[in-house]
Amino acid sequence: MTKPRYEPPTIARHARGMMNKLARAKSIQPMTHIDGVAVEALVERFGSPLFVFSEKTLKARHSDLQGAFGRRWPKVQTAWSYKTNYLDAICRVFHRAGAWAEVVSELEYDKARRLEVPGSRILFNGPFKPENALAKAFRDGARVHLDNFDEIQRAEKVAREIGVRPKVTIRLNMTVAGVPLWGRFGFNLENGQALDAVRRIVTGGMLDVAGLHCHLGTFIQDTEAYRDEARNLAVFANELKAELGIEVDAIDIGGGFASRNTLHAQYLPGEQTTPSFGQYAEAVAEGLDSLVVEPGHEPTLFLETGRSLVDEAGYLIATVHANKRLPDGRKSLVIDAGVNLLFTAFWYKHDVVPAAEFRGTPEATVIHGPLCMNIDTMREHLLFPPMETGSRLVFRSVGAYNVTQWLQFITARPAVVLVSTSGETALIRHAETLDTLVSLEEVPEWLR
Ligand SMILES: Cc1ncc(COP(=O)(O)O)c(C=O)c1O
Repeated sequence: MTKPRYEPPTIARHARGMMNKLARAKSIQPMTHIDGVAVEALVERFGSPLFVFSEKTLKARHSDLQGAFGRRWPKVQTAWSYKTNYLDAICRVFHRAGAWAEVVSELEYDKARRLEVPGSRILFNGPFKPENALAKAFRDGARVHLDNFDEIQRAEKVAREIGVRPKVTIRLNMTVAGVPLWGRFGFNLENGQALDAVRRIVTGGMLDVAGLHCHLGTFIQDTEAYRDEARNLAVFANELKAELGIEVDAIDIGGGFASRNTLHAQYLPGEQTTPSFGQYAEAVAEGLDSLVVEPGHEPTLFLETGRSLVDEAGYLIATVHANKRLPDGRKSLVIDAGVNLLFTAFWYKHDVVPAAEFRGTPEATVIHGPLCMNIDTMREHLLFPPMETGSRLVFRSVGAYNVTQWLQFITARPAVVLVSTSGETALIRHAETLDTLVSLEEVPEWLR
């Protein structure tokens, strides 16, 4: 029998649990498996830290979204927001489920084309698209969303040069209930700029306005905002028809639905405050009731939903490497995954649980990452049970934005794995190494 390791005694105040107003503390349940695959087995095979995605959840979320909106509007098309997570395997799951691609840069456009998404199934957003990218998109029949007057002029020049007359969409910004105005994207609706833009395109005679788009913002928990947005888009579409004889074939409400995460400033947990897809769909459909349209001629309703399709499908497994006592008395766990991998830790109180059964009294704990940076806090305040070094933790709902916005800082970025619907696991992105880091570097002759 090996002698148990000596642990110096500490005195910790017992906490009964952080009560909410219903006098209930959230109990911590370990997460030993992800879709039936043992967390420990995943780490043994692919290392720690590790991002894991569930194909089952990706598909389920997509079909829930399609179902909820399909019940309320006859023509609905999802377009996968690449910036939310553009790993090839993730994009493929959504494309196979019927989603088009929504891209915001030439790199993303090329990535979608490389995945054999036809141009005619790509929506091209973003405040700047170089001429070369516009030319590609117009030739391929992609739908370009125009953002500003300079871009209108640039798009006309490109269309003239390559001899096409593309259908374009106008991006609008607008004031709606409960959401700060994202006025820097597109043309403002209220001050008449949007109508000016359409008139300008009509008089230019090189492009056809065929769609209206607006992306209100992100993590919007108030469905009223979408009711307002859909109504405003419908009323503007009516105006275009009445004044300019333009009948749009697409109304695109952008993305922005909240995932079930909990914002730092939020009191109740995300699973209690995030509307369902059905609630968002109801609000949008009620707003679209204002559209004057012959039955059978309804425009396609595009959804560029990102975060709420992928967040819950993503997990980050990490390992505890140290236990410390902070000067303020709290326990600190030092783990091997930092905020450079979990960018969304700046926004959310991420749900994190042990990956194995645990014993001992939970106490006030901070979870720190491995970066030698004071900002590297993965969770600031939580009641957490004692964790031996070597214990694994699972961060849940981390699928959105992290594997696109992660930073290679001090450490190499870890592997990413997909668990298939039938429980197979496959590597979908290799762990980086020192070679990955230096592969683009050069040392000038005089320093060799
Ligand atoms: C134009 C556009 N569409 C869709 C999205 C996806 O948004 P979300 O992840 O909030 O659903 C974004 C993200 O900012 C966006 O800029």
